[in-house]
Amino acid sequence: MNHPVLEAWSSNRAFIFAVTGAAVGLGNIWRFPYLTGENGGSVFLLLYLFFMLVIGLPIMIAEIGLGRAGRAGPMQALMRLAQGAGASLRWRYLAVFGGLTLFLILSFYSMVSGWSLAYLVKSVDGSLAQQSPEVIAGAFGQLMSNPVLMLLCHTLFLLLTLGVVAAGVNQGLERLNTYLMPLLYLLLLLLAAYAVTTPGFAEAMRYLFLPDFNAVSWKVVLDAMGQAFFTLAVGACALMAYGAYMPEDQSLPRAAVVVALLDVGVALLAGIAIFALVFSHQLEPTSGPGLMFITLPIAFSELPFSHVLSLGFFLLLLLATWTSSINLAEPLVAMLKDRGWSRLRGTAVIGLGVWILGSLAALSFNVMAEVYPLGFLGGVFAEKNLFGLLTSIPTDIFLPLGGLLIAIFAVYIVPVADIRAAIGGSETFYLLWRRMTAKLAIPLTGLLLLTSVLTFWGVL
Ligand code: TRP
Repeated sequence: MNHPVLEAWSSNRAFIFAVTGAAVGLGNIWRFPYLTGENGGSVFLLLYLFFMLVIGLPIMIAEIGLGRAGRAGPMQALMRLAQGAGASLRWRYLAVFGGLTLFLILSFYSMVSGWSLAYLVKSVDGSLAQQSPEVIAGAFGQLMSNPVLMLLCHTLFLLLTLGVVAAGVNQGLERLNTYLMPLLYLLLLLLAAYAVTTPGFAEAMRYLFLPDFNAVSWKVVLDAMGQAFFTLAVGACALMAYGAYMPEDQSLPRAAVVVALLDVGVALLAGIAIFALVFSHQLEPTSGPGLMFITLPIAFSELPFSHVLSLGFFLLLLLATWTSSINLAEPLVAMLKDRGWSRLRGTAVIGLGVWILGSLAALSFNVMAEVYPLGFLGGVFAEKNLFGLLTSIPTDIFLPLGGLLIAIFAVYIVPVADIRAAIGGSETFYLLWRRMTAKLAIPLTGLLLLTSVLTFWGVL
């Protein structure tokens, strides 16, 4: 008998949806547009697309492939593979470094995702419906100047994440995600279609796609590279664990290409919608972290059924950030579990740490705005408050460094036969991956990493 429904949800798709759930989140809808605005538009966007292709994608394949080859959690997988290759067992510390990166990212991720909860309430109480852009922008400012509300949102969102991690029911959420992700796409498509009708659309397209090479600087290049890692969830061994459960016959390069396309699609739709509104309302592209939270509510207020649209959008955003934050938290708890901790204890300890750091990051928008924790190091550090540090160092330095080591391990340490089997798919795809990783991804990431360290210290 035929089971078309079962076939439609074959495990190949389940794998793709799980990785997409980790990839699509704040990185696409919130971080991508505001970084694009801060970095002057098109050049950043084009560099980001370039790095996705030549660095993000090959290293993503390497990372998932290592998990698949090691058939275990990141730490065990790395150890097993290093052992098999006769290499140093210290490679396993790559998973610990990844854990540190995930911890730092999760702290600000949870805090910012909490803002969606505040906007969910605003969608229901109608305080932003049919309001002027000034009032809507003001509402964001009010949230930022209210540390108590920000801490409340951060705490609630973190509890949502930890609840799922503590119960170990991630798969359930992934399934939910599978059904609701197409809705997020639909809503973003609708917003982008509306953007086409706004007076700022043409300017937004020029801003996003017409290269203005005067805007190139090291900061733009490095931000674009960090964003490629961040948005694909690559470089911290978080995707390695997903590889262990990959179906035997699935082609990894093909799956990775599908995820990357879905991921870029969300970012581009969000970018188009947001910048059309920016130029329609003479807002500043450089508004920073508030950009999405100001522009999209303006769009909702102009559209019919604004309550429903706004509520739907923030619910879907919340779901997207939820699956991403679970991907950030789960490897940390798993690592403690492997050391004999109970799931509950591991979740509690990680949760407390993330809560404290994220709460301090929330204060970066008000009482601690002028506190520069690493200012004594000089260079860029002198002007970064805690939020600035958390949103730049883990993504611009730690993820690329982790990714570089992952790629080197996959290409030069693990026996060729093992990695070949783990990548799966056609010989052409495999060879293309190997060449791109060895000749482009590794040298380019290494070079840019060096540059980024020099820029951070103000040498460049
Ligand atoms: N990719 C997610 C986003 O764009 C964030 C994320 C989830 C992540 N898991 C990760 C980033 C692991 C780095 C490493 O919102």
